[in-house]
Amino acid sequence: MADLTQLALAGAAIAGLLFLLIRRLYPKPLPGIPYNEASAHRLMGDIPDWFPLIKQTHEFSDSMLNITTRKLGTPIAQLLFPNIRKPLVVVDDAREIEDILVRRGKEFDKAPTALGLFGPMFPRATLSQYTTPALKAQKRLWADVMSPDFLKRVAAPNIHKATCELLDLWRLKAEGPGTALLNVIDDFRNAALDAIWVAVVGEEPGTMRYEIQKLRHQLSGSDRPFDQKPPVGEFLKEQVHYIGEAVARSSNSVSPELAQRVETWTPRYRRFRSVVSGEMRRAMRSAVERFQHLETERLEDDAAVDTCAMDLVLRRQILQARKAGVAPSDPTKDEAMLDEMFVMLVGGHDSTGNTLSWFVRFMEMYPSVQSTLRAILRSKFPGPDLPSAQAILDADIPYLDGVCEEGMRLSGTAKANLRQAIVDTRILGCPVPKGTEIFFNFHTDRETPHVDEAVRSESSRAAAEKKWNSVGAEHAWRDLGTFEPRRWIERDKSGKEVFNAYALPSLAFGGGYRGCFGRKLAMLEFKIVVVLLIMSFEFLPLPDEYRPMSSVETVFRQPDFPYANIKVL
Ligand code: HEM
Ligand SMILES: *[C@@H]1O[C@H](CO)[C@@H](O)[C@H](O)[C@H]1NC(C)=O
Repeated sequence: MADLTQLALAGAAIAGLLFLLIRRLYPKPLPGIPYNEASAHRLMGDIPDWFPLIKQTHEFSDSMLNITTRKLGTPIAQLLFPNIRKPLVVVDDAREIEDILVRRGKEFDKAPTALGLFGPMFPRATLSQYTTPALKAQKRLWADVMSPDFLKRVAAPNIHKATCELLDLWRLKAEGPGTALLNVIDDFRNAALDAIWVAVVGEEPGTMRYEIQKLRHQLSGSDRPFDQKPPVGEFLKEQVHYIGEAVARSSNSVSPELAQRVETWTPRYRRFRSVVSGEMRRAMRSAVERFQHLETERLEDDAAVDTCAMDLVLRRQILQARKAGVAPSDPTKDEAMLDEMFVMLVGGHDSTGNTLSWFVRFMEMYPSVQSTLRAILRSKFPGPDLPSAQAILDADIPYLDGVCEEGMRLSGTAKANLRQAIVDTRILGCPVPKGTEIFFNFHTDRETPHVDEAVRSESSRAAAEKKWNSVGAEHAWRDLGTFEPRRWIERDKSGKEVFNAYALPSLAFGGGYRGCFGRKLAMLEFKIVVVLLIMSFEFLPLPDEYRPMSSVETVFRQPDFPYANIKVL
């Protein structure tokens, strides 16, 4: 009898302990921030609502917004997890997000979760670092690579060239003056890879040209096998593609950081590193060779010598060493430099390829925008040749600028990003403790709940009063789901149409000190490609089965149907 009692008591004690333990694992909402009541009363928090929706829609970020801010009808909310992970604060208000990114940098930094995705593979890249003095020095070294002058002189002509090759390829695919239904995403990615590699490393990978030769051979009906030796771009493409896939795979796992760490131990990752860094080191050696023979005076003359971003940075380092009277360090052993270049390749070509794929879908959906833009471009650039990069960048065409902004805004390629609060602070009136991770929606594609001016931050209110950027123009906020370039256009005092870059907060590239490093390059590239595409092809309606605008989101959002039905003009 006594034994049974003891057993029962022990059982009850264990059950009690288990009960307490499980209670501890229940989500613990942060005080003062809206959340789903029901989720707070179940072990898995919001996950049972969230994961099935991701499975259904393949959209990670949109699903999160759907079950938090949108469901609750609030501009700020929290996503609840079992108590092994702190709640994630979700913010969906474009104006306040821009204010936080641009003006409240002292209160927020990169979030650990965001760094975890790239950190294991590229530990020394800026993308993987908190905002420290070392990071700031590294950013300074690279900053001028994105100066308008450098981009125009070095990047723009190469982008133009890669794009003209893309046009040739598509003309071939349409067999001369015909029409063709194309899957565009790989072509856009290849063209973007050609452009970014030559802009960063200074050598032409030749991917596009190789595609053209391959297709020509195929069309010629020759029985000889295609025996052209693949250019370096073919290997690079494969390597960069692998990284994109690996990061995408890891980003969907329970611990992206761990998944990425494991990936770095694989032979496949090591092959990537050795192939790509081998190419980079070779290019570095020849640049250093060139610079070491130059007089200091010549080395200081920016315009004279740089053919790519890498040149500029190497030259700076050689100059710094000379001035300090020390021997320059061996740049081929500089892991920070290699990591930075890797990230520019990987981050710079998928994002651009996806955004361009969305763009051609928008052109198909909005034929009147397409024809308006084409008419304006034809009157500005009567031809017969297509305009040069210089001509495109120098022209003042408000409607074109509006089209580019709309393309960036609506495609939501990089839908969201994270920050962490590095001090106790408030967002939209809600207390946000130090260490909290915050998810910001960068995709301004629909109306969000009204926010009382009184709960906005001081800097946000001051910006509104001074009519700085980010408050936007009233007409610009209408029908946010539609592609309307005119929302970015205003009339100046003389009645002339002018482009207003501040008509809406632009969040496609995040913002502030940790905003997208490649923003100016990406905008410049987008503009050149848009002009050349619209002047060369008409984008006809797609068959119904290709028309859904659904997408799959990994690191970037990619359309499920990246198709174009082109007619050669
Ligand atoms: C359409 C093209 C692109 C889009 C939509 C895009 C978007 C973004 C976004 C949203 C961020 C995060 C910013 C934030 O959290 O505030 C980012 C960061 C970054 N992007 Fe881009 N990007 C594009 C093209 C490029 C290109 C061409 C490059 C390279 C030259 C590049 C290099 C980077 C780097 C290095 C960072 C990290 C910056 C840091 O941590 O300080 N991006 N990008
Ligand atoms: C959430 O997503 C589902 C499925 O896509 C949709 O039917 C529903 O309207 C969305 N709810 C909100 C509040 O956005």
